[in-house]
Amino acid sequence: MVAYGSRRLCLLFSLLLLLSCLSPLVYHSFLTQKLHAQPSHKNLTILLWHWPFGRSYSLGGDKCLEMSHISHCILTDDRSMYPTADVVVFHHQELSNGASALPLHLPRPAAQHWVWLSMEPPVNNANVKKLNGVFNWTMSYRRDADIPIPYGKTLQGAGVKGFPGALNRSCFASWVVSRYKPNQTRVQVYQSLKKYIPIEVYGGWNKKPLPEDRLLPTISNCLFYLSLENSEATDYISEKLWRNAFQAGAIPVVLGPSRSTYEAVAPPHSFIHVADFKDAAELADHLNHVAADKRAYEEYLRWHQTHRIETCTDWRERLCQICQKYPNLPSRKVYQDLEGWVNS
Ligand SMILES: *[C@@H]1O[C@H](CO)[C@@H](O)[C@H](O)[C@H]1NC(C)=O
Ligand SMILES: *[C@@H]1O[C@H](CO)[C@@H](O)[C@H](O)[C@H]1NC(C)=O
Ligand SMILES: *[C@@H]1O[C@H](CO)[C@@H](O)[C@H](O)[C@H]1NC(C)=O
Ligand SMILES: *[C@@H]1O[C@H](CO)[C@@H](O)[C@H](O)[C@H]1NC(C)=O
Repeated sequence: MVAYGSRRLCLLFSLLLLLSCLSPLVYHSFLTQKLHAQPSHKNLTILLWHWPFGRSYSLGGDKCLEMSHISHCILTDDRSMYPTADVVVFHHQELSNGASALPLHLPRPAAQHWVWLSMEPPVNNANVKKLNGVFNWTMSYRRDADIPIPYGKTLQGAGVKGFPGALNRSCFASWVVSRYKPNQTRVQVYQSLKKYIPIEVYGGWNKKPLPEDRLLPTISNCLFYLSLENSEATDYISEKLWRNAFQAGAIPVVLGPSRSTYEAVAPPHSFIHVADFKDAAELADHLNHVAADKRAYEEYLRWHQTHRIETCTDWRERLCQICQKYPNLPSRKVYQDLEGWVNS
């Protein structure tokens, strides 16, 4: 009984030994088989039907790999690629003003997705209604777009820049504005606020345009920057916050979506929201208090030690985001009420 048992044990043991010797081989051939069985990665072709605002950029080389480290993503503006493109992107402005038109006369490939693209707030998206039931995906600054492409993002980790302390700034607040319309809320905020605090105004409206290379240095010299959006709309936070204020290291005074939206996307304790104050006098009181109290002022800049801002302004980088998102996008979808979505 014992002898038999031990012989069986011995057999089992040698079998195990054999298996453990073989298994790397078995595993290896399984792996290579698997690798070879996998089809080579398919390229996605993104066709941009027309360039936003009539300004084109080079698409030569592998732009998504070079600019965004995204592979297998081919951007093209060559309309002859239409029958085989995986995705076709239409920027709203040119559809709206008639500079370009949808290729409704061409057969629409069944697996192709059409993308509606706009970085403008609802007031600037005219004639959306006629586009109902046409598009499969949306692409905009909105967080609930299929392909969200915000003007800026907050990332973990400190940036490299040091900013001047409060005492070294010779300007209290500044504002850059080109399209000034008396009935805009931001203009009303400016008009009432300037009765209480000095505001240096730059840009087309004031005939004091700032060249690109003077923008951030000029704003850096100010304690505050008025990041007032031209309209208050869902998630609409433009480069007026991300670049002008944050990248210049001035404290933004914001007008736009709700405080909770800013809290969701901006660094902690990084802005002053107009809607938190009863009126311009109360807001000015707060600004004067923060300006006079070195510690209170620096509290608003502390996030620079733990967070940094990334902005995205290049249309090509934005288009590459489609490939990044593609595997997770709903394969069958239609915006039957695009107008309703845009204005919500
Ligand atoms: C994908 O595109 C690249 C760059 O244009 C090309 O070199 C490659 O052959 C393409 N791959 C496939 C599978 O079509
Ligand atoms: C303020 O400016 C002075 C003189 O230009 C400079 O020596 C000092 O380092 C600056 N301080 C800060 C905090 O930037
Ligand atoms: C503001 O004025 C423009 C014309 O200048 C007009 O089209 C628009 O409806 C007005 N907006 C509001 C909110 O009154
Ligand atoms: C895209 O939208 C069109 C227009 O409504 C629709 O006919 C088509 O089935 C949709 N395609 C996909 C892949 O969802």
